[in-house]
Amino acid sequence: MLKGQNILSSQQFDRETLLGVCGTAAEMEKILESGKQSDLLAGKVMATLFYEPSTRTRFSFETAMNRLGGRVVSNADMMSTSSAKKSETLWDTGKVVSQMVDVIAMRHPEKGAVAELAEGSDVPVLNAGDGPGDHPTQALLDMYSIMKYKGTIDGLTVGIIGDLKHSRVLRAQCQMLSGFDVKLVLISPQELALDEDVKSGLKNFEEVESIADVIVDLDVISVNRIQEERFPTQEEADKHRGKFVITSELMKSAKEDAVILCPLPRMEELPKEIDDDPRAKYFDQVHNGVAARMALLAHVFGIN
Ligand code: NCD
Repeated sequence: MLKGQNILSSQQFDRETLLGVCGTAAEMEKILESGKQSDLLAGKVMATLFYEPSTRTRFSFETAMNRLGGRVVSNADMMSTSSAKKSETLWDTGKVVSQMVDVIAMRHPEKGAVAELAEGSDVPVLNAGDGPGDHPTQALLDMYSIMKYKGTIDGLTVGIIGDLKHSRVLRAQCQMLSGFDVKLVLISPQELALDEDVKSGLKNFEEVESIADVIVDLDVISVNRIQEERFPTQEEADKHRGKFVITSELMKSAKEDAVILCPLPRMEELPKEIDDDPRAKYFDQVHNGVAARMALLAHVFGIN
């Protein structure tokens, strides 16, 4: 279904596609657990073009490719490359890089920039985050994590907490979850509420400002830091910090089998004290992310 396609948007993952990739991710986890090198993507080369800082996402893409026997050429600081310094268009950069590799994973601080490069590219381009726009592979690994820990997505009550306005991860999660029978509880101050463009695609949701009132109902507690780099001033970002801290005290009211997800990095919203809570899954998610990206690569290459 995804063979040969660009992966630019969370909306490309309808229910069937998402479940298909999650099924493959479970198989990929077996490869990871076996400790053996796979040669599924032997001979393939991926370029990772990162115009915005990244730790997890770039390593995760590259690890996924390496684990499947493919190879990687990487630039973690594309803004300092000759292309960017000489104002080459993203279309041209896409055209050029795609003459050398079989797939491109790209991150950029501007919404829509990954799609622009994909226009010029002759090989599939995978969106590793485009500004406040979308982050489909993070949402994919989040969905895989929910499936893994809860056994299903349907029937769950999912709390999406924090900076819903600027967090591409939280926006992407809402979009992917809209294909399932879930109740979404959107928890944010009004100024950081989810944009209408995403909200209009949701079926069953409510918006609240305080997590304490709803935590008891949540099967999934999905948090992300205030995206301070996307605010006009630091003061405006700071105004919202510390409002949604998942303390052990708060977790006493949560379900025994709830799961706490976070794409990381975390700030004050996830104090270290809850790392030992068995419901805290954010570090395990990093491992799940490698399996999910291995699965996505296999589907994009049509070898699943
Ligand atoms: C997220 C991102 O870059 O959007 N991180 C990630 O991909 N693991 C979340 C964030 O930066 O807060």
